Amino acid sequence: MGKAAYDTMGRGYAPIRRPDPRLAAAIEAALGDSTSAANVGAGAGSYEPTDRLVVAVEPSAVMLTQRPPPAGPAVQGVAERLPFRTGGVDGAMTVISVHHWTDLGAGLAEMVRVARRRVVVVTIDTEVVAGHWMVQDYAPEILDLHVSAFPTVADLCRLLPGASVTAWPVPADCTDGFLAALWSRPEAHLDPAVRAASSAWHQLPEPVVDRIVRDLAGDLATGRWDDRHGHLRGAPALDVGVRIVTTALA
Ligand SMILES: C[S@@+](CC[C@H](N)C(=O)[O-])C[C@H]1O[C@@H](n2cnc3c(N)ncnc32)[C@H](O)[C@@H]1O
Repeated sequence: MGKAAYDTMGRGYAPIRRPDPRLAAAIEAALGDSTSAANVGAGAGSYEPTDRLVVAVEPSAVMLTQRPPPAGPAVQGVAERLPFRTGGVDGAMTVISVHHWTDLGAGLAEMVRVARRRVVVVTIDTEVVAGHWMVQDYAPEILDLHVSAFPTVADLCRLLPGASVTAWPVPADCTDGFLAALWSRPEAHLDPAVRAASSAWHQLPEPVVDRIVRDLAGDLATGRWDDRHGHLRGAPALDVGVRIVTTALA
């Protein structure tokens, strides 16, 4: 996706992609005692800590305009060229954004350059996505998209020496409706507004989306989805591949 693709996708994004406070707490913990931070690929401002100074960097004007009124300062820009001086902030964070960057190595190097203490990358491990029922039963194309876009966790660790990786199992009632987060709420994918807030759906050809939605709707109507995956409806949380990669710089 181009860096301004969210100018199109961004409309209606904020109501579906409400930051989950439990993931927010995990990100704040990863930022440690950083009292200032850059939020790279900030979108509408999800997961920006409110207990410290955070400056958002985001290429899409539409996403920037969806930032809620109490949000901190924001600048239009890209990861590959961060508008901060070297060591200008304590921490640099990025949430579900690295897969959109045009140059991952340059973006991560920029985060390391501008941060004095911590670099925190929240991403998706595509090896785990491969086991998701959406991929297995309906949409193998979604795995192809993820694999071609997302860096592997090993790649991130190679570019961020000394990084530690933590899995964040997604709670069943996660408020952030990204595609994999809806693992126990299959009906949600039938809603065009929900699909519109996840980039993968925008990247698939319309006939493919129609096929996936038709097949899923059919299996929900006949009970086939529940026969195969109904146990998930009662599960509290599931590892769908969310990973927090943290590097302590000092
Ligand atoms: C899935 S959204 C995530 C937004 C937000 N971090 C969140 O968790 O809701 C990905 C964001 O990355 C931004 N993005 C795309 N290319 C970028 C780049 N080269 N540098 C920084 N951000 C980029 C998009 O505009 C979009 O807002």
